[in-house]
Amino acid sequence: MKFFVDTADIAMIRDLADKGMVDGVTTNPSIIAKSGQPFFDVLKEICAIVDGPVSAEVTATDAAAMIAEGQKLAATAHNIAIKVPLTWDGLKACRALSQEGHMVNVTLCFSANQALLAAKAGATFISPFVGRIDDIAYDGMELIADIKQIYDNYPALKTQILVASVRTVNHVKQAALIGADIVTVPPKTLQSLAAHPLTDAGLAAFLADWEKSGQSIT
Ligand code: E4P
Repeated sequence: MKFFVDTADIAMIRDLADKGMVDGVTTNPSIIAKSGQPFFDVLKEICAIVDGPVSAEVTATDAAAMIAEGQKLAATAHNIAIKVPLTWDGLKACRALSQEGHMVNVTLCFSANQALLAAKAGATFISPFVGRIDDIAYDGMELIADIKQIYDNYPALKTQILVASVRTVNHVKQAALIGADIVTVPPKTLQSLAAHPLTDAGLAAFLADWEKSGQSIT
């Protein structure tokens, strides 16, 4: 399973990339606004660090304007994935941009039928938002399992499942168990994946015993 990092925080992206944990990056208008940086500057900086897909979202709402924005975003770097919302205009833009050879990430997916439409429109990635579904007391991971089954039923559909709106380490584990292609994870959650109290306690005990032995490796 690939890890994308769900942030525009350059220092975080660099740190996680140095650890080999960044296969791509996702942004959205809220994430870019939070960065406080000009959109195109941030994108260029991220794309200089990360070779994998970097999602950049259009903000137009009609297909023609989405296509124009998408083309402008894609001109920023070779690895831009144009993000479009799951509306009929977004699907139309997805089809046109995919046919031009661009990577397209269809975002704001909340149902299996929406994911089916995105795949038929030629999306490279579908982004179902599991955390926001959990927020309203439904089961986000059930949606991932449904989409996985539907895509597996039709091997001609090549869209990759990019689990988004990840809030917990359990979301990551469940996505991997289901066999999702990618999770996009906030840096804090990604860092938490390595944490275990027994690892910390075990290491402390080993180091204390080693200290007592009076030996040194170097
Ligand atoms: C990424 O593609 C999504 O925009 C992001 O994961 C949404 O996360 P949120 O629901 O925590 O805002």
